[in-house]
Amino acid sequence: MTARESWGSRLGFIFAAAGSAIGLANIWRFPFLVGAHGGSAFICIYLLCLFLIGFPVFISEIIIGRAGRSSPADSFERLGNSSWWRKAGMLTIITGFIVSAFYSAVAGWILGYLVEAIRGHLVAFNSAEQAASHYEGLIHHPYWALIYHALFLAASLFVLYFGVRGGIERGNKILMPLLFIVLTILAVQGLRMDGGWKGLHFITSPDWSQLTPMAFLIAMGQAFFTLSVGQGTLVTYGSYIKERENLIQSSWPVIAMDTLASLLSAIIVFSIVFSAGITLQSGPGLIFHTLPIAFGQISGGYLISVLFFLAVVLAALTSEISALEPSVAYLVDSRGWSRHHAVMAVGLGAFLLGVPCALSTSALREVTIQGHSILDLMSMLASSILIPFGALFAVVLVGWRWGIQRGMAQLEQGAEELFEKHPLLLWYFKTCIRYVAPLLILVVFVGTLMAVI
Ligand code: PFF
Repeated sequence: MTARESWGSRLGFIFAAAGSAIGLANIWRFPFLVGAHGGSAFICIYLLCLFLIGFPVFISEIIIGRAGRSSPADSFERLGNSSWWRKAGMLTIITGFIVSAFYSAVAGWILGYLVEAIRGHLVAFNSAEQAASHYEGLIHHPYWALIYHALFLAASLFVLYFGVRGGIERGNKILMPLLFIVLTILAVQGLRMDGGWKGLHFITSPDWSQLTPMAFLIAMGQAFFTLSVGQGTLVTYGSYIKERENLIQSSWPVIAMDTLASLLSAIIVFSIVFSAGITLQSGPGLIFHTLPIAFGQISGGYLISVLFFLAVVLAALTSEISALEPSVAYLVDSRGWSRHHAVMAVGLGAFLLGVPCALSTSALREVTIQGHSILDLMSMLASSILIPFGALFAVVLVGWRWGIQRGMAQLEQGAEELFEKHPLLLWYFKTCIRYVAPLLILVVFVGTLMAVI
């Protein structure tokens, strides 16, 4: 048997985990949430959520991964010391797999829009109706969605095929800096446009009246989804971290990069929207209607449209890779498969599960439950139920079942100096992992279910 793979360097892990974290939720969803829930007031509670639960859950999963040194199923079982915990680990792998399927279907549309942008189709709209009818024409076409779903997935599998170091690490080391370069160009360009500063002013002015309990739940959900917690990804990526690596210094840059990407995206979207003088929509409306109308009205719109969709595709690609990896790791570590066979099997499975999602706006449009499409249902199942459960399992496993002392000993390994200098850090992690995070996750869970039902 060959030795288990590991990251070549700390930076390798940081870029891979940041690649996982930064995705559609940063570029597409975050700006809209900021707009809808009180500008910087929302940003404040979002940062609080990152501090109180996002970071502690993130660290718990990395601890489980490094201590377990295997797929999430094995790692959960080892630390939890029972087959029940193995099932909990399995559930996180399944969650990642479900996410990878619908995420690929949605990212396929974005890839399709990148091609539209390159062909110059996104700078030709004069009205919202034109942009909307162009969008409808595309998404009502089953083959369009299917082909781009397949292409996007194939690109992710190509990277996964070359392994942890040769594929994931190398791919992210190229794609992440590229993504930040593109985001920075777009943000600077956005602010230089007439009226662009109004966008920045809008997101930095708080409107506290918009901060409802619902906004709080949404901020927590966003923090979970964007950090890729609760779905086996970080346990798996953590399992490739070396024994003596400092986990804190490997993790905080990931959270910082993820937050920076969200803020840059908000600046980009609002400066474009304000300089074109149009109103912001949510969901598909934002990216497929509002922005294309704006691209047609601003100078340099063609290049900006291409760069924008390129950034979203890159971000989604590195996230998709990380959603597939836990299932690959399961087949390799727990089932003894070769990596190449595992990548093919997981890819085929994700493609098939993604087909009904990709067709949910065309051939399967009529198939709905209480008005929700198959795509909506899968994404709701993952974000409202499976991900909070996965996150809860992680903090309960480290905080209670395996034991907080062992957990903290694992965290201190390689970070002894840091904890000696800042003993408060240990207190922060202990308190949040044991009490604050589990309690708040339960609040989100119950709150979200009550809102959905
Ligand atoms: N964190 C990604 C985003 O912000 O879009 C989403 C994601 C990636 C979810 C990887 C799940 C996952 F395993």
